[in-house]
Formats: sequence, C-alpha cells, structure tokens
Amino acid sequence: MARGDTCGEIDWRVNASPHTVAKNTATGLLLRERAVGGPRRRPLPTPSEGPRETASFAELLKRHRGRRGLTQQQLADFATLSVRAIRDLESGRVRRPRRESVGLLADALRLSDPERQQLHAAGGSPADLRDALPGLPASAPPALPDPPAPPGALVGREAELQVLLDQVTVHGHRLVSVVGISGIGKTHLVLEAVRALRARGWLVGWHAPAGGTRCCGALPAPGGPPPGTADPTTDLVAAVGERHGLLVIDGADASGPGGVDVGELLRRCPGLHVVVTSLTPRYLPGERVLPLTALAVPEEALDHDHVRLGEVESVALFLSHMRRSQPGFRLREDNAHAVVRLCRWLDGVPRALEYAAGWGLVYPPELLLARAGRDFSLLSSPAGCGCQDLLRSVARSVDIVAECCRLVLAEVADRPHWTVGDLDHLVPDPAAALHTLLVHGLVRPAGAHLPERFTALQLVRLLHARDRTPAGAARAG
Ligand SMILES: Nc1ncnc2c1ncn2[C@@H]1O[C@H](COP(=O)(O)OP(=O)(O)O)[C@@H](O)[C@H]1O
Ligand SMILES: [Mg+2]
Repeated sequence: MARGDTCGEIDWRVNASPHTVAKNTATGLLLRERAVGGPRRRPLPTPSEGPRETASFAELLKRHRGRRGLTQQQLADFATLSVRAIRDLESGRVRRPRRESVGLLADALRLSDPERQQLHAAGGSPADLRDALPGLPASAPPALPDPPAPPGALVGREAELQVLLDQVTVHGHRLVSVVGISGIGKTHLVLEAVRALRARGWLVGWHAPAGGTRCCGALPAPGGPPPGTADPTTDLVAAVGERHGLLVIDGADASGPGGVDVGELLRRCPGLHVVVTSLTPRYLPGERVLPLTALAVPEEALDHDHVRLGEVESVALFLSHMRRSQPGFRLREDNAHAVVRLCRWLDGVPRALEYAAGWGLVYPPELLLARAGRDFSLLSSPAGCGCQDLLRSVARSVDIVAECCRLVLAEVADRPHWTVGDLDHLVPDPAAALHTLLVHGLVRPAGAHLPERFTALQLVRLLHARDRTPAGAARAG
C-alpha cells in the first residue's frame, strides 16, 4: 500500500497554539538548512560556558522554580504534571526526563528561549521538536485529517486525565490501554488528552479501525482507514517511520485493533507511543492499563443541597444532557430525588446518562425512574439510529472475559454486594477473577460505606435479567 493511502488514516501535526506557530515558522528555516546540510545538532553547553551551563537538570529546575516563587505543587499544576514527577526530577531520581515533560516545565516556568534550551540540554533532550525527529524529511507529509475535537466539555476525570498524560509524558510508557465497557468515556478522555498533548507540541495520529467499538453518538472517525486497506500495521509503520509521536488506536476491540498488530507497530517505530481505547487490555509486555470506571454518583439523602448535587459528576452530565433538549430544566424539590436515584441506578455510566436524558423529553425524571428496569428501550438512543443498545454493548464485554469470570458474574449479578471471599467456592482463583472483572468495568466497589465489598454493574444485572426471559434467551442464543 502506498504511503499516500495511509495518509488518510493518521494525522501528524505540530502544536497549533500561537506560541508554537511562531516557533514552527522559525523551524521552517531549520528544516531547509537541514535539507541542504544534513541533520543539524544544537551544540551542547560546554563547561567553559560557566557554572550555569553545567548545572544538573535537578539544580536548574529548582533554581527556576525558586525564582518564580512556585511550590512543587504549583509547578505541577501549571505544567499539568504530577507533584511526584516534580519531586523525582528535583531530587535527581529522574535525570533524563522526556522532552515533552521538559517542554511543559519550560512553559509553566515561562522560560526564555535560551533558558529553555539550557533546560533541555541539561535533561539531554533537544529543545526543538524537529531535532527530535531524525527521520523527518525536509518536506513533511501534508497535514492529514485532525483527530476529532472532544464532543463537549469533559466532566470530572481530572485524575484519570493526569494519569494518562503522566504515563505517556513523564514515565514514557509506550503503550497505554484505556479500558472499560462501551460508553464509559474512553474516547472522550483520550480526546482530551490528545488536545493537551498537541497544545504542548506532540505529534498525534488518530486511527479508528474499521469494526471498532462504535455506537450512536460516537464520534465520526476522520482517521478511519480507507476501504481496502490490506495490512494496517504495515501502512502505519510506513507512515510513522522513525518519527516521535503518539498514535491513538480508538475502539480496538477484542478481535484485535482493526488488524493493527500493536506489538509489531511499537517494535518497528521506535519513537512511537500508542494509546489504545478498548474493551480489554492488549496483554503486551510493557503495557500500562488504565481501567476507566464510571463517574461519581450522589449519595442517597432525604434532603439535597441542589447546588452541591449539581456538581456531582454524574448529575452534572445528566443535567447538561437534559438542558440540551429542555434548556429550562433545573433541579427542584420535586425532581432531585428522582435524578439522584436515576444517576445511581445507571451507575454513572456516561452513555447511559446521555440516553436516559434523551428520553427526558418524553418522560420526566420520576417517570424515567419508574420505568427503569422494566423498559429496556431506555437503554438505547431515543434518536433510534439503529446502533447497538447498551445491553448489547455490555454483553460484548461479558463475552470477552474468561469463562470463570462469567461464572462469577452470573452468580453475583443479583446480589446487592459481596466480598472476594464469597467467591471462594466458585473459582480456583477468586482474586484474579475479580481483578479481571474490575479491569473490564463489569463490577465496581460497592461504595466507601461498604469497604471490601463489590457489586455488579446495573447493566450487567439487567443483561442477566433480560437473558433469563424467553425472548432474551432467544436473543442471546
Ligand atoms: N467525562 C465525561 N464528560 C462528558 N461527557 C462524557 C464523559 N465521558 C463520556 N462522555 C460522553 O459519553 C458518551 C460515551 O463516551 P465515549 O467516550 O464515546 O465512550 P467509549 O469510548 O468508552 O465508548 C459520549 O457522548 C461522550 O461524549
Ligand atoms: Mg470509544
């Protein structure tokens, strides 16, 4: 397959912020020079250039932070890094930080260009992105379709976003799998991470394999493969080459990410990081797995402070969807309780909240709640686009896990909550089975008030209930 064919699948581009546009303009000259004179290396500071140039990365960082009067926590916040990362860098535990992390720190510290270069040199990384891309030809491939923009504001997920960014930028992990049931918010989270990384100068490609996890309301896939792609792995290797950057493979399901052999891709593209969104991990060496659980749900209470209630993640998302079709919708005395119970009943699963709120045009929250569990159509989009419903989606996750895990699920689905000890008689290794079910997002901790207890997702419960009916069993068979 010719390189041009692959171009439709991924997008490599540099930061679009005004700051970087200026830098990129300057980089154009650099590239032309390199085309004529070969790769150009920025000279590293020599000891004769004075004590500042020979300072270690840790010392330089501490000095700049002190000059700005920032605490480690403040610097971490500004740089969107973890405070632990800052500590590791300042203590010298991490001596050669990733180029992207140094860029984040330089931005946060508002360093001048020479200071920025000095910091990069101390950390052993080039300040200019193009210097990090030895294989980049003088005329880079034309801009390819952008990764889609996030479909709206990301509610909550601050911790998950930070972990995802840190995994790639600070710790330099080359494969991170964001895992969970369909509709839990994997794509949305990764899109937000992509936005943050691109703003920091990362090259980002987006690949949405044919046959990946798609559902109504799912994002269009501008990075989707052109029809007739024979071997996406080879195509991607050809497009990425030696370049440094990140490739997102979105919707890589159990049968393999649209034919992409991620291990092979990573082997053949040494500068590449890959983030996969999938129902299940890849189980590859070095893979980091980020299991995505549901949004926070409110506690049951007799009285609710409506302002605080509206800030609970699942409620905030439900309200924002309700207001799309009913702009005047507000939490009130007479509907707050139903909204709380609905969000809890739906386990804070974003797609389930979206569908339920969509039906809010027909049924007020109290009626939605009354119908929940009896009317399975509430678990599909009211737009009726004929895509998968949520039960079918969750059934795919159930199908993926090993048989012993399915056995556990069938046993515990109807119990309000249980402990790992309760599984002893069911399977040889209950803790491993529970771990798998948690990673796949099919069960969750029962709540802070019930430590060490777990519960199946309501969707799993409904799936079992539905499959026990004659019609459901026929459908499942
Ligand atoms: N944290 C969130 N804040 C706002 N909307 C969200 C959030 N998580 C998911 N959504 C929305 O829920 C729906 C399902 O999310 P998506 O990322 O497509 O799930 P997945 O990729 O896990 O199937 C999308 O409409 C998405 O925009
Ligand atoms: Mg998705």
